[in-house]
Amino acid sequence: MISTVSERWSELIGHRHVAARSAGRWRSIRTLDSGALVTALRSTGQKVVSFASNDYLGLSQHPAVIQAAQTALAEYGAGAGAARLIVGSRPIHDHMESALASWTEREAALLFPTGFQANMGVIGALAAAAAAATTDCIVYSDELNHASIIDGIRAARASVQVYRHCDVDHLASLIAQHPDSPAIVVTDAVFSMDGDLAPLDDLADLCAVTDALLLVDAAHVVLGPSIPSSAVIVGTLSKTFGSVGGFLAADQHLVDLCVNSARSFIFTTANSPAEVAAAHCALMICCSAEGAELRSQLRSNVDLLSPGHPSPILPVLLGSEERAMEVSHALLAQGLLVPAIRPPTVAAGTCRLRIAVSAAHQPSDLIRLGSALSELGVDL
Ligand SMILES: Cc1ncc(COP(=O)(O)O)c(C=O)c1O
Repeated sequence: MISTVSERWSELIGHRHVAARSAGRWRSIRTLDSGALVTALRSTGQKVVSFASNDYLGLSQHPAVIQAAQTALAEYGAGAGAARLIVGSRPIHDHMESALASWTEREAALLFPTGFQANMGVIGALAAAAAAATTDCIVYSDELNHASIIDGIRAARASVQVYRHCDVDHLASLIAQHPDSPAIVVTDAVFSMDGDLAPLDDLADLCAVTDALLLVDAAHVVLGPSIPSSAVIVGTLSKTFGSVGGFLAADQHLVDLCVNSARSFIFTTANSPAEVAAAHCALMICCSAEGAELRSQLRSNVDLLSPGHPSPILPVLLGSEERAMEVSHALLAQGLLVPAIRPPTVAAGTCRLRIAVSAAHQPSDLIRLGSALSELGVDL
């Protein structure tokens, strides 16, 4: 095979490989036989129960969700063929945006290809609007926010002030130092690697008195918290809704700004109709009695491992990379797939297991995981 990289590039890439391997941070893709929680590793055929999927209500496997995607495939074909502003928009995109707006009780909603790109696009459009008025904004960001928020701020070339995790007093002191700059306060609602909740009501109160815009990333919201009515919402279709895609829910005014200037909305192909139809069906289920039952099943599954924990994300802090990998491997040997989370996803010294609980888990799976952890001497 002809090499695609020159010797010089090969050497540069090789240095990065050596650094990652020697730091114990080498990553590789793991392929599973199916999207069900009880599945098998493609490489070895080993049967595993997965505790790593963000499919919190199991809706990616729901027959009605699958059927909705199949119907949309038959009706519209596989791909959208172009960006929404060209010829990529179908009625299902419009229906989904109306459904998201009414579900979030916001004036309007806008789909993005992924939640990652929703953060990139919304933060970029807001920062550009401020810059165009020759008043650069400041983005105040929780120190544990998701990478897509961090990258959105970087790509927007906006000034950033990072406040201590969930520390509203620290945030207030930072905002007070820049009283004249337009401010955006951005936070995960549920922190993706810690599973704790942002103090959204306090943040909303502070934003109200300081005239800051509150941007809440609701990616992992399924058991709460409720989002203050004054917040702009960014979310995803790829976790609780079992599909793929992202969205903004806000005033029409802000949605119009993003239609006209969010680069990750404008310069990319529309979501495929099938993935939007799947997410639309999942949203309808979430709003039904069946959705309430699934959330209550999820609540009791979480309680089996950690009573009262506020989200389906349970971090098990282990410290070093080696220890996190060791425990993850020991669990895998018992058919329990719980990934080790290492830098750069989390700070050095805070490596952990991230247990993602789903309504689709059998209570016996969770009890087995709890016992395996205690046999390994690991406290939840
Ligand atoms: C808090 C948060 N925001 C955004 C995203 C990105 O969402 P998506 O997977 O739809 O790109 C994630 C995904 O891991 C997330 O955890």
